[in-house]
Amino acid sequence: MRTITVINPKGGCGKTTIATCLASHLSWDGYKVALADLDPQQSTTDWGALRSEEYPEIELINHGSGQVRASRGTDILVLDSPAGVHGKELGQLVRRSQTLLVPILPSPIDMRASWRFLEQLFSLAPVQKGKVKVGLIANRVKENTLIYRELTGFLGKYRAPYVAHLRASMNYVRAAEKGLGVADLPRYLAERDWQQWKPLMRWVESKRSQPKN
Ligand SMILES: Nc1ncnc2c1ncn2[C@@H]1O[C@H](COP(=O)(O)OP(=O)(O)OP(=O)(O)O)[C@@H](O)[C@H]1O
Ligand SMILES: [Mg+2]
Repeated sequence: MRTITVINPKGGCGKTTIATCLASHLSWDGYKVALADLDPQQSTTDWGALRSEEYPEIELINHGSGQVRASRGTDILVLDSPAGVHGKELGQLVRRSQTLLVPILPSPIDMRASWRFLEQLFSLAPVQKGKVKVGLIANRVKENTLIYRELTGFLGKYRAPYVAHLRASMNYVRAAEKGLGVADLPRYLAERDWQQWKPLMRWVESKRSQPKN
């Protein structure tokens, strides 16, 4: 089983949104997916409770129930991490993952906080040795804004790939309130978002996002 963790200690940058949407995309792509909520705020658990059986199944694991253990046969475990992860907890999360996705918002406060986090992350041995692969995501962007260009420049400086930019869209908000991701929305509503998820899914489903052995 492979573990993909969505992580950035900065609150509100889109970890839960991206973890839930990623789980939904992967389940549409035919993987057996589990999604674990590591956050005491329980937003992912709430999301899972709203999801109807009409949509591809995602096994929800609530951290409150003890250890995170996905059912047998699970292909991919997605972890939604809480805000404020640091120190020992960060090290543990990094060690148990093969892939990390780091969402960052186009805002000076978020970019500064994320810079500090990325400095810390890239100094960890598993990241330096390529035992875990990191992908950066610009989230909630408004194209044609200066701050989005600044964020693109900021993300381009890292050796970790800048795997996607996701626009600010009410689709994310509306989907979340029904236990859905943008992949579950109809084409006429979400075509633009699907296009933006394509490079992200290509990276996630390729060897580039997985350690060599
Ligand atoms: N691309 C987007 N477009 C529009 N709204 C978004 C987008 N991404 C996230 N949001 C909204 O931003 C808010 C914060 O997102 P989310 O809860 O996913 O962040 P988080 O990193 O999980 O927060 P926390 O650190 O509190 O766990 C939510 O209201 C969510 O619906
Ligand atoms: Mg969250």
